[in-house]
Amino acid sequence: MSQNQSAPILQNDLLLRVARGETVHRAPVWMMRQAGRSLVEYKQVQVQAGGFRALIAQPALAAEVTIQPVEIVGVDAAIIFSDILVIPEAMGLPYQMLPQKGPSFEETIRSSADMARLHPVQSEGNLDHTYEALRITKRLLNGRVPLIGFAGAPWTIFCYMTEGSGSKTFSVAKSILYRNPVFAHDLLQRITDATIIYLRGQIAAGADLVQIFDSWAGALDRKTFEAFSLPYIAQICAAIQEVPKTVFAKGAFFSLDSLAALDCQVLGIDWQIDAEMATAAIKKQALQGNADPCLLYAAPEVIAQETTAMLNAFPAGRHIANLGHGINPDTPRESLFAFVETVKNHRYA
Ligand code: CP3
Repeated sequence: MSQNQSAPILQNDLLLRVARGETVHRAPVWMMRQAGRSLVEYKQVQVQAGGFRALIAQPALAAEVTIQPVEIVGVDAAIIFSDILVIPEAMGLPYQMLPQKGPSFEETIRSSADMARLHPVQSEGNLDHTYEALRITKRLLNGRVPLIGFAGAPWTIFCYMTEGSGSKTFSVAKSILYRNPVFAHDLLQRITDATIIYLRGQIAAGADLVQIFDSWAGALDRKTFEAFSLPYIAQICAAIQEVPKTVFAKGAFFSLDSLAALDCQVLGIDWQIDAEMATAAIKKQALQGNADPCLLYAAPEVIAQETTAMLNAFPAGRHIANLGHGINPDTPRESLFAFVETVKNHRYA
């Protein structure tokens, strides 16, 4: 039996209502990377856990930081605390999170011999921890707001598995696309298969909606994005039918029309895409976004003014207010309140 059947009825289902195309009196609001270093409460739990990866591996603590932004900032959704990199880890590539430098993999996948060392995902790695964190979070939320599950898009995971870390140029990952497309498709398919299993596990553990993060879509152009990224996102969307899906392909303005044709209910957009342009491209979907995370360095009245302009630029009832990418760690705490309160006070006529 799915966990969802025994869960209490949601008291605040604004996010799901917008995803399903139902009427709402205002836009729901949450922020990508809302659980994290912009909250001192998070930092305390992270230290208590013994670091970032240790925090992911302790479901009760992961659940605690997942709920912090709901209780402290008052957002309309929780997103499970984990990382997109648990998938390469579960496939056999452990990583470290280096202070100031970000993710780092000891081994990379660049040859057939490397690929042979990978294994298909069942429930190894950190995945069981994440499912357990979802179950605990669901219990603690007790129906207050929906819980979002997530995974990286295959192309973005491919970047980390081939580069071994983040990159400015993605020259290793992209060189494989041009020099060995067969190898690229093989690895992308393996990541896709693992991701579908992972998202299904998250849904069984209580995720009410899932988001696919293609953070490095913008490293590609229309042709390569539509050859090496979009088809795998489409496979994931086709495989997941139990809950609504959000696709966030950062920087992929060149493929808005193709993203609009995906079998997903919500399209996430970054701040470099106009609300008007995105609205013209979509047919059935709702849009999520798209304030510049750096707006949150402004004074509260500027945040309120710009957030109101953003709310007015999207069609009423078809918008989930969010940033256009994750919160920066040094974001002033009062800015989080200014952003969220502005959205909550903005009622549709
Ligand atoms: O949004 C949330 O609040 C949920 C948790 C979440 C994290 N990572 C926690 C995290 C989510 C949804 C992610 C997704 C993720 N992870 C993405 C896709 C979204 C995006 O931002 O583009 C990517 C590319 C990653 C990989 C990753 N993990 C990077 C590049 C970093 C930053 C490294 C750094 O030092 O700046 C991380 C680390 C990470 N993931 C942190 C958090 C809270 C910060 C690490 C810490 O707490 O010390």
